[in-house]
Amino acid sequence: AGLFPGRINSQGLDLNDQTTLDATLSAIAEIGAKPHAATALVSGQAVSGTARAVVRPADPSQPIGTVIEASSDDVARALIAADAAADRWAATPVEERAACLERLADLLEAHRLELMVLCVHEAGKTIGDAVAEIREAVDFCRYYAVNAREQFRPVSLPGPTGELNELRLTGRGTFACISPWNFPLAIFIGQVTAALVAGNPVVAKPAPQTPLIAFRAVQLAHEAGIPADVLHFLPGGPDVGAALTASAAVHGVAFTGSTGTARAIARSLLSDDSRPLVPLIAETGGLNAMIVDSTALPEQVVGDVVTSAFRSAGQRCSALRLLIVQEDVADRIIHMLKGAMDALVLGDPADIRTDVGPVIDASAHNKLLAYRQSMKAQWIHTLEAPHTGLFVPPTLIRLNAIEDLSQEWFGPILHVVSWKAGELDSVVARINARGYGLTMGLHSRVAETAERVKSLAKVGNLYVNRSMIGAVVGSQPFGGEGLSGTGPKAGGPHYLLRFASERTVSVDT
Ligand code: NAD
Ligand code: ALA
Repeated sequence: AGLFPGRINSQGLDLNDQTTLDATLSAIAEIGAKPHAATALVSGQAVSGTARAVVRPADPSQPIGTVIEASSDDVARALIAADAAADRWAATPVEERAACLERLADLLEAHRLELMVLCVHEAGKTIGDAVAEIREAVDFCRYYAVNAREQFRPVSLPGPTGELNELRLTGRGTFACISPWNFPLAIFIGQVTAALVAGNPVVAKPAPQTPLIAFRAVQLAHEAGIPADVLHFLPGGPDVGAALTASAAVHGVAFTGSTGTARAIARSLLSDDSRPLVPLIAETGGLNAMIVDSTALPEQVVGDVVTSAFRSAGQRCSALRLLIVQEDVADRIIHMLKGAMDALVLGDPADIRTDVGPVIDASAHNKLLAYRQSMKAQWIHTLEAPHTGLFVPPTLIRLNAIEDLSQEWFGPILHVVSWKAGELDSVVARINARGYGLTMGLHSRVAETAERVKSLAKVGNLYVNRSMIGAVVGSQPFGGEGLSGTGPKAGGPHYLLRFASERTVSVDT
């Protein structure tokens, strides 16, 4: 429990239990077959407009539902309503705000199967990933509730006799929460609940690929007691996000997505000289590397590499992109890695046997396949992908140098380079020099090597002798530095503070 005694992470679902598994698979078939409809919500009211189909990445010819996205008029109305609610919500006792988050956590758990089904069908997540997604969302709610109670109490500070000093945290005003599709519930709800519990109204914009699950989360948040004029739902594409960040009614932005979009948002927030300076919390991409030395345990390395690079079809910001193996053991590790890749099952994420599902949409599919094809001369190993659906075969590509990896390829593509004994410091320096700083892995049984990498690596999350994905709320606060983000870390004790204004009051008694 650490800093926050009494916190217990969500227990998730035990899919090894046959009854639980059967219920999950029936829900996936039944709920998945029903049409799902989402719409922008301004003060809880559905908007009117043309519905657009939302499709399954595993088979884009099959719609899973529809969404009516927010128009520019809806965006403007939501911002006016949020602004009008801001003082009232900031003055709502933190205990009440935290209680809303805890009720939401309970509701997310109560609706776990429905939400998992949406994760599987709308985002193409495997069933195991869908279980983890709901757990993480629940954990964010409970963790931020506990944090808020601790951190938002007024604190008395010392001063001379006759003077009372108090520091208090308060909401800043409307926050725009802009999220990606790859954690369509966990990141969406993590941003939203943090902003809300800190006392801010929220205008929430999910990724255009995954509005259905976000819509259900907002409905549950309203049911949990978050007032409808305090949480508005504005699905849409970059235009909706850009309209939000361009508005002077927005007093802070929580963004997770690509580094390029974070830069565009930062420029937008600074483009109008008359506008107040507002915080941007940006969590972005990475060129994540794992260093393996000759003392590492090969079986463990291979398991952790496969998990880190190929699970979730490589569509995690934390995923391994560049494996850097000491040359003495490189042939053996690669030989074993090929065998482990051959055992991966690619297929429909609704099938419990599937290890690697589809990528999110046709644009990602085309980009990844074109890149993979362009690197054909350097393939070490690849797999066959199903012929229908947006599948990218897991592929291992040999590079000559760390610097040859030019950008984040957001899919199941792993690059490999080798290094020589004595080069450890320069390997870490060359990774650091790329400017990203999200995750790094190390496999070594030499304590001094681990200490050396700990002291040199400029990353937000360093993983030693384990996989590099699946950070747990409250245990592994997550987020990067440099081109990978501004901090503070999601699921960590400092996250809420960036959503608040600090006010000091000094009274001469
Ligand atoms: P993206 O940047 O394309 O989109 C993210 C969100 O920003 C979407 O809601 C999108 O509609 C919106 N958006 C796009 N242009 C905008 C603009 N000009 N103004 C305002 N909003 C705009 O990213 P994506 O493809 O959805 O997500 C994948 C990326 O996210 C990868 O780079 C991945 O590494 C990163 N990611 C980072 C983390 C992290 O915690 N560091 C977590 C998940 C994903
Ligand atoms: N928090 C996610 C992970 O650690 C991105 O994999």
